[in-house]
Amino acid sequence: MTLKLTVIGTGYLGATHAACMAELGYEVLGVDVDKEKIDSLSRGELPIHEPGLPELLRKHTQSGRLRFTTSFEEAGRFGDVHFIAVGTPQRAGEHAADMTYVDASVTAIARAATKSSLIVGKSTVPVGSARRLKTLARDESQGGVAIDFAWNPEFLREGFAVEDTLRPDRLVVGSDSVGAVDVLREVYADALSRDTPFIATDFETAELVKVAANAFLATKISFINAFSEVTETVGGDIRTLADAIGLDSRIGRKFLNAGIGFGGGCLPKDIRALQARVSELGLDTTMRFLNEVDEVNLRRRDRAVFVAETLVGNLEGKRIAVLGVAFKPNSDDVRDSPALDVAARLFNSGADVSVYDPAANANAARRYPRLNYVDSLSEAVRDADLVMMLTEWSELVSVDPDELAKTVAHRRIFDGRNVLDHGRWTAAGWDIVSLGHKSELLDEVLKH
Ligand code: UGA
Repeated sequence: MTLKLTVIGTGYLGATHAACMAELGYEVLGVDVDKEKIDSLSRGELPIHEPGLPELLRKHTQSGRLRFTTSFEEAGRFGDVHFIAVGTPQRAGEHAADMTYVDASVTAIARAATKSSLIVGKSTVPVGSARRLKTLARDESQGGVAIDFAWNPEFLREGFAVEDTLRPDRLVVGSDSVGAVDVLREVYADALSRDTPFIATDFETAELVKVAANAFLATKISFINAFSEVTETVGGDIRTLADAIGLDSRIGRKFLNAGIGFGGGCLPKDIRALQARVSELGLDTTMRFLNEVDEVNLRRRDRAVFVAETLVGNLEGKRIAVLGVAFKPNSDDVRDSPALDVAARLFNSGADVSVYDPAANANAARRYPRLNYVDSLSEAVRDADLVMMLTEWSELVSVDPDELAKTVAHRRIFDGRNVLDHGRWTAAGWDIVSLGHKSELLDEVLKH
C-alpha cells in the first residue's frame, strides 16, 4: 500500500515538499496552524514566488492528491510519515534558533497519531535536537501507537526549490532505527532509482551536515568578499581572481561571487545559531571564525552605502534608483536581504529611494513601507542621481546602458553584484563603481 504523507508547516520548505511528494505519486496532507495560508493553498494559490511550484500546487490540489488542513487530528489519522517542515527563526535579541514551532509540531502530531507512524524532521535545528525530540514524541504518543523518528535535512535553494526536491544531489537520513531508514528509502525511491547518494547516519551527523553545508557556503562568500576589500584598496579584478582560484577543482567557482553579500532566511541565521549552539556545548572558540564571516558580510552593506554617499555627496534629497531588493534573484524573499537593508539605510539618510524588483516589491513594502516602490525599471531610474544594481535578476542585468542613459539625471551606476560589463557601461558614458574594484572616481572624490 502506498504510504500516506503529511507535511507539517507549509512555508517555503513545507509547501514545496508537499507538492513535490504529490508529484511523485503520494497522497499528501499539508498541515499548518495558519488558517489563511491553508485556505489559499487549498484553492491552489501560492503565497510565495517560486518557479514551477504554482503549477504543481494547482495540478495536485485539482487531482485531489494534495490537500491541506489545520487539523492535527486529521493528520494523525491520515499519515504514515509526518514530515516536520516548520521554521526555526533566530530568537529575538539572541543568536540561537527558536525551537518553539518544531517542539509544538512534534508534540501535536505525536499526540494526534492514531496509527504507528514515522516522524521525520526536515527543519534546520541545533545539534542534539533530534534525540531530544524523539523522546518527546514517544512520551507524548498514545498508548499502543509506535512512533519512529528520523532526521532528514533539506538542502533546497529558493528559486530552484522544485528541482532540488525532485532531483536532490544527495539525501541524508539520521536515525537509530533501521525501519525508519527503510521507510525513507521507499519515500525517496524515485531519486534513488537515479543513483542519488543516500547517506544513512546518526542523528547528530544528519543535523550537522545541514548547518555545516550552510556555514561552508557562507564562509566561501565572505572569503571572496574579504578579498574584495583588498582589491578595492590595491587594485585588481575580483571576478578574475574568483575565476582563477575557482578553476582549482578543490576550490570550485560556485559561491565565489563577490558583492553585497549573503542574506535570506537561512545562511545568516544558521551561522549565528551554530555559534550559539557550540558555545552552549562549551566550545566557545570553535566557531568563532563564523563571527568574522558574519562581520565581513555585513561590512559589504556598509561599503555600498559609503559608495553611494561618496558618489552623490550628501544623500539628502538625492534620487536613488534601487534595482532589486530580493535577497537573491528569482525569489520574492526579503528576509535579511542585503539589498533591502542598503535601500532602507539610504532612505534613512535622506535619499529619495525608488525601488523596482520583479517580484519582491510587495514583501519589501510590508517591511519598509516608506520607500517608493514602482512597477518598472524605467520608472525607478527616471531622473535618478544614482542607479544601484543590488539583486542580479537577469531582467535587470540585461538592461541597455544607452537606453537607461536617456532617462537618468546622472549617468552613475553602482554594481553591487559584480554583474555589469564595465567596458559597455563606460562606453555609454556612465561612471560605474563595483564592489571589489578599485575606483579612480571614488579616489578622486575622496581626495577633495
Ligand atoms: C541556502 C542553501 O544554498 C541551501 O542549500 C539551503 O537548503 C538553504 O539555504 C536553506 O538552508 O534552506 P538559499 O537561502 O535559497 O539557500 O540561498 P543561496 O542560493 O544559498 O544564496 C544565499 C545568499 O548568498 C543570497 O543572498 C545570495 O545572493 C548570496 N550569494 C550567493 C552571494 O553573495 N555570492 C555567491 O557567490 C552566492
